[in-house]
Amino acid sequence: MSGATRSQIYANRGPVVKYAIFSQPLTSTPLSLDNRGVKAFKPHLQELPSYPYQKSEAPIKLDQNESPYDLPLELKKRVLQRLQELNFNRYPDLHAEEVRQRLAAFLDWPAEGLVVAPGSNLLIQILAQAAEQVLDTAPSFPHYAFSARVASTPYRAIPLGADFALPLEALLEALEAGPGVLFLPNPHAPTARLFAEEEIQYLAEKAAQTGWLLVLDEAYHQFAGSDYLPLARTNPHVALLRTFSKAWGLGGIRAGYLVAAPEVCQVVQNFVPPFGLPAHTAQVLLTVLESPTYVQSIVQTLVTEREKLLRALQTHPTWQAYPSQTNFILLRTPDAEAAYQGLLRQGILVRRQDRYPGLEGCIRVSVGTPEENRRFLQAAFALAEVSHA
Ligand SMILES: Cc1ncc(COP(=O)(O)O)c(C=O)c1O
Repeated sequence: MSGATRSQIYANRGPVVKYAIFSQPLTSTPLSLDNRGVKAFKPHLQELPSYPYQKSEAPIKLDQNESPYDLPLELKKRVLQRLQELNFNRYPDLHAEEVRQRLAAFLDWPAEGLVVAPGSNLLIQILAQAAEQVLDTAPSFPHYAFSARVASTPYRAIPLGADFALPLEALLEALEAGPGVLFLPNPHAPTARLFAEEEIQYLAEKAAQTGWLLVLDEAYHQFAGSDYLPLARTNPHVALLRTFSKAWGLGGIRAGYLVAAPEVCQVVQNFVPPFGLPAHTAQVLLTVLESPTYVQSIVQTLVTEREKLLRALQTHPTWQAYPSQTNFILLRTPDAEAAYQGLLRQGILVRRQDRYPGLEGCIRVSVGTPEENRRFLQAAFALAEVSHA
């Protein structure tokens, strides 16, 4: 727990920005339906840029914060056995009941307090649609802003402070003008920073006083060793979003869940289409929930690798690596385009972050296997030599 005092925390106050992620154009230009004479949709949907991701191929893929390790073969075989026994012609559970029961036992949390969906992205979209308003930080995980915008939900984002500190005072003030849903990734994405427990406590208490729902997005919590289940247990204004896409190594399977008070889950569940979790996804989840120990050893390996990467990057002549409590590292470079292209030329794919406010020059690299990380470091230092020459 950090020793930050309330006044130190308050010093990180910042102005409010709206739709921060859209302050600069994203790569894709939306097509205009007007040209086609189709006027069927709500006008605000015309102007939306698509999700800021462009698929690229490279031998070493460190751009999506996936696990570099596939599901252990033994578990894959068990999944395949289950799939063979599955009747593909039958619909799955209405609300993923069996998965929720298993997950409830795994978490020691009531099944009525869980919503399972094909990806936590869908749960973000649902929460943004259901919300009276959405409050966010900036920069932040772009799908919060995007979802609010698609849903026409009023949206505000408060800029992070120096070194990506939580703007606690400004957030507490914003919670006075409510209620609504506050999305807070913790550890934070894309800055990789874990916020202090006191700060989260203040927000949770304020949410309880003002009727907000504080949604802690714990997509990366295993890499930080953090867990806000105890807080959610005592405060129904706190909900947790989790995903199977990162530490569990199941990005392609598409599964995420919400942990919240049963009353909150009831509302959210209504937005998930009936039979929404595919039967094959459910079988994978049932298998890993029977044998979850592989996750811990992968997390340990990736945390050790992350620390090695961070130590090595500290000696980089021109790049600054920010501390990380996740499976990725945010790097500030003199020129994000040059860094991205320079790495790509050496077979390494990372993600640009420089289009977000406050992240000028930044790229993000996922922690890979030891060999992938070694090759990444080699490429990163080779670039410095080229630019110094
Ligand atoms: C903070 C955060 N939340 C949610 C997600 C989405 O996860 P899912 O794969 O479950 O949709 C991601 C994915 O990168 C993320 O970084």
